[in-house]
Amino acid sequence: MNAPMTPKFVETDLDSISDFDGKVAVFMSPTGQIGLPARRVNKLMKRSLIRLSESKTFDDMPNAGCHVMSMPNGMAASAVIVIKMPKRVTIDDARAAGASLAKIAAGDDVLLLTGTGKRASEIAFAFTLRQYEFHDHKTSDAIGAGQLTVMANDAAEAETDYADKGAIAEGVFFTRDLVNEPANILTTKEFAKRLHDLEAHGLKVKTLEEADMEKLGMHSLLGVGQGSESPSKIVIMEWNGGGDEQPFALVGKGVVFDTGGISLKPAGGMEDMTMDMGGAGVVAGVMKTLAMRKAKANVVGLVGLVENMPDANAQRPGDVVKSMKGDTIEVINTDAEGRLVLADVLWYAQETYKPTGVIDLATLTGAIIIGLGHENAGVFSNNDELSRKFLNAANIEREGAWRMPLGDAYDKLIKSRIADIKNVGGRAAGSITAAQFLQRFIKEDMPWIHLDIAGVASVKTETDFAPKGATGWGVRALDRYIADNHEAE
Ligand code: BES
Ligand code: MN
Ligand code: ZN
Repeated sequence: MNAPMTPKFVETDLDSISDFDGKVAVFMSPTGQIGLPARRVNKLMKRSLIRLSESKTFDDMPNAGCHVMSMPNGMAASAVIVIKMPKRVTIDDARAAGASLAKIAAGDDVLLLTGTGKRASEIAFAFTLRQYEFHDHKTSDAIGAGQLTVMANDAAEAETDYADKGAIAEGVFFTRDLVNEPANILTTKEFAKRLHDLEAHGLKVKTLEEADMEKLGMHSLLGVGQGSESPSKIVIMEWNGGGDEQPFALVGKGVVFDTGGISLKPAGGMEDMTMDMGGAGVVAGVMKTLAMRKAKANVVGLVGLVENMPDANAQRPGDVVKSMKGDTIEVINTDAEGRLVLADVLWYAQETYKPTGVIDLATLTGAIIIGLGHENAGVFSNNDELSRKFLNAANIEREGAWRMPLGDAYDKLIKSRIADIKNVGGRAAGSITAAQFLQRFIKEDMPWIHLDIAGVASVKTETDFAPKGATGWGVRALDRYIADNHEAE
């Protein structure tokens, strides 16, 4: 398990700068202006910063770009990192600078001299997010997270600003660890255990076991897991930080490994299906964040944990199962299992909690990767207002999200000859017919969003705030959505 580094915030002390033996970072405005702490560095370095400000190198640097000056004269530091920062710092600039700093630091300690600079907490947040490393199964030494020390004129204010962001970083790291974990370790049992451990942060956590689901008639979900040695589970995490209002519900697909079942997937790339619990991972991360920052909202997170395996007891193509809702489903393809899991969890969530709205997250279709690549999650919704609010939060957090259509013409594609509905609709519009399937299990007036995160949950190249692998996509956007729309000021 990987805990995020906690930045230190200290009052400006010019005399201590020369002794710091990690890397020292300073700001310079695009016109070459520097604050008091950077002037001290410039003096120690015999005017090197001023020379840089007059150079073409500096001219060519983008805003929030960094220039590294190695082994500076007159300082114990191994490098001085100059960040070109406009006077008015946007969140994007601050986070871009923080992420670059983390990469340049490469595990070394960093002293960031902000002076009166604003958005110190945003820089520290991005620095922390970018330092993530999943090293749990390597026997060599980890690069490790370097300590960030932010030196500011109002250190106490910066530290207060950082508190909630620290809770978000905890949630993001929790999600990334879950998504990166291989399936022989993160079984349904281990997943449930890690979620129950969240009780330490004040969440109420309970599990529905197979016998409970049997009684509730959840044969859609149970059918998916019946070929696995690992028991299927639904884990429910309640955060009651609000008043007596009904909760908002987050629902996640937690297929700990997706072989495809009897409709077996090809060998090439099957190992990636360890991330098929990505939706559940995001729900878990958001719940952890809400608890750690003591959000003034009522939110319930429900995750369906199953393993999709081929086996003598596995579900067959052509089987017909009855969902908790009562609708019957013809299972044309056992590899379209995520929707079968979500059908019962979504219905249970609405029946039990009467939520004010539902957002589900799932690595649901390969088709969404064909459509949107790895830049955007697919957003499917029956409610324009909810969509607008979510898309706004995702945009501020720079987590790509793009609205996709729903409609009756697509719904027709999942009509079954022998049951109420079938679990695939053919090749055309594969992500939309999957969403239409889910909508069959959403009550008439329930505001709902389905997020297809197959392309964004885990990626093969590094992103702005994460190395290769699990991104934690959605934790920041969902936390912001809850903060902005469900918490009284
Ligand atoms: N877990 C997969 C979707 C997926 C694909 C996630 C690639 C991440 C990366 C899902 O269960 C699945 O297998 N979907 C099928 C549906 C098809 C059988 C209708 C697919 O997308 O091929
Ligand atoms: Mn599948
Ligand atoms: Zn799947």
